[in-house]
Amino acid sequence: MAALRSSLCVAVCLSAGIIAVADGQTPANPQNVRWVSLDFKTSLTWTALPHSSTFTVLYSWDKYDWIEIPECIQLTKPHCDLTNSLALVDRTYVADVRMDMDYSDDPENLPHTYSPPFNPFTQSNISAVKFTIDTLDEHSVLVNITDPITSIHRQQQQLSIKDVLKKELKYKISYYKSGSTGKRDHISDFSEAIVSKLDAGQSYCFMVAAYIPSRPEGSQLGAWSPHICTPTPPGGMTELSLGAWLGIFILLTVVIIIVAVIILCCKRRQSSHIHQTSTPV
Ligand SMILES: *[C@@H]1O[C@H](CO)[C@@H](O)[C@H](O)[C@H]1NC(C)=O
Ligand SMILES: *[C@@H]1O[C@H](CO)[C@@H](O)[C@H](O)[C@H]1NC(C)=O
Repeated sequence: MAALRSSLCVAVCLSAGIIAVADGQTPANPQNVRWVSLDFKTSLTWTALPHSSTFTVLYSWDKYDWIEIPECIQLTKPHCDLTNSLALVDRTYVADVRMDMDYSDDPENLPHTYSPPFNPFTQSNISAVKFTIDTLDEHSVLVNITDPITSIHRQQQQLSIKDVLKKELKYKISYYKSGSTGKRDHISDFSEAIVSKLDAGQSYCFMVAAYIPSRPEGSQLGAWSPHICTPTPPGGMTELSLGAWLGIFILLTVVIIIVAVIILCCKRRQSSHIHQTSTPV
């Protein structure tokens, strides 16, 4: 009976293989396996040929033990959410996307593709923070930052990126005088930061991004928030634009040239006058 079943199985497998070949498609491995991760919500996507089989995704951090993901067994769509499977610690994972074919007697031959290695703790993209600004006095502004929320729950609580990154999370505050292009940066360890030494009577604009200096370069900075500006203080001097400065510069140059020409002409006349009066003597 067992022999019959296995020979039946082989026959089914063979005909499946023949059908695949007849279709002009030898079973192809999943292509373009890539990670997408934002605020620690992490998933895997790949491209599949039309009419290909279902997929099962496993993951591993030592490439020895492969763990199944309950949500990613016999998938019909080329997409698997691993958010709840991957631990939020500094660890690199590899996933294996396998095509569900009845190659049970030779699992080595299952068409499959490994993902690139991925460490969500250091490689997940971070979205833009929200913040408010309050003018404390004419030289300082309080920047109050709200961390993005992740989709991860622990003990009935939704975690923020601060709950995951803890002390690794800092903030980069970039600010500039309204209408000028020179930017300055302020790094803060805390979500409430005071930016001081500002020029009095000026409007300043602020932008904030999550900043994780312990990460490898390229993934240290979250998305920048839109900028928020302090209102221009009433009666304050407004910064002159570059065009206005250029206008003033040209006007000054013209005035200086005219004055110089007048002085030169006067001197010439004076000297020729002296010359005239001095010769007859
Ligand atoms: C992070 O964002 C960049 C730029 O948008 C994108 O190219 C990259 O694939 C993203 N990485 C992940 C893991 O989602
Ligand atoms: C910053 O914002 C939070 C939440 O909006 C608020 O509870 C906190 O009091 C604010 N901090 C300051 C110093 O205004």
